Amino acid sequence: MESLKDQTVALPAGSLSREEQKRVAAVAAADLVDSGMTVGLGSGSTAGYFIEELGIRLRDGRLTDVVGIPTSHITARQSREAGVTTHELTEHPIDIAVDGADEVGPELNLIKGAGGALLREKLVASAAETFVVVVDQSKLVPSLGTGVPIPLEVARFGHRRIMRDLEVVGIPRLRLNSSHPVTTDNGQVIIDLEVEEISDPVSLDGRLARTPGVLATGLFVGLVDLVLVGEDKEVRRIGDRAGSMSHHGSAGLGRRPVR
Ligand code: 5RP
Repeated sequence: MESLKDQTVALPAGSLSREEQKRVAAVAAADLVDSGMTVGLGSGSTAGYFIEELGIRLRDGRLTDVVGIPTSHITARQSREAGVTTHELTEHPIDIAVDGADEVGPELNLIKGAGGALLREKLVASAAETFVVVVDQSKLVPSLGTGVPIPLEVARFGHRRIMRDLEVVGIPRLRLNSSHPVTTDNGQVIIDLEVEEISDPVSLDGRLARTPGVLATGLFVGLVDLVLVGEDKEVRRIGDRAGSMSHHGSAGLGRRPVR
């Protein structure tokens, strides 16, 4: 199987807006989906373009029998509107999951969760044989944590206490909407944790995950197989693992070679 490292897909000349970069990355991800696959559907605008593209391909017959596993109520609604059949996450395997990210750092570690769907996004990404991230080029960063805080889904019960505990790691802020705590699809709340530049995402993730009341962290470490970056003239593919092994150690990208 060919290696994905540094491979690119050429695009027509001309500079692309950020939204166009997201769209071309999402369309490239749709090329990785085959008929009959179960597909994890991320949340956010870039994942939205991917869902739209799946809908187009299902309508024009390029794809059939695709089942989506949405990572949020909003994604479930978008999927229904696009004509993508959805199921809840069960014990059944997911062939491929496609999602956006807020930051893509070294070793393809991510910060996700600006949309508040991080818990379900992480569950679906972890359950997928192959996890593909679609971003515009502004999301690539030399180190995680300098541009955005780390979202944490925490128990609503005692969240003020949990914030206190997190103060040793960074500056915790309760996510609000019109001065009310944002409620996740799971009925919990989000704390955005501002930290210094993250030099060791594995140990920071472990530390945060061990804090009582933290249900999911927005640090996605060691989960990503392939990143598709929409750039001006190409979709850049970054990923060592996708060409040979998924993060679960099983073969290949959704049981087929990458185009
Ligand atoms: C939602 C997410 C999104 O995937 C992330 O915020 C990127 O969103 P967008 O594609 O709109 O930039 O993690 O919880």
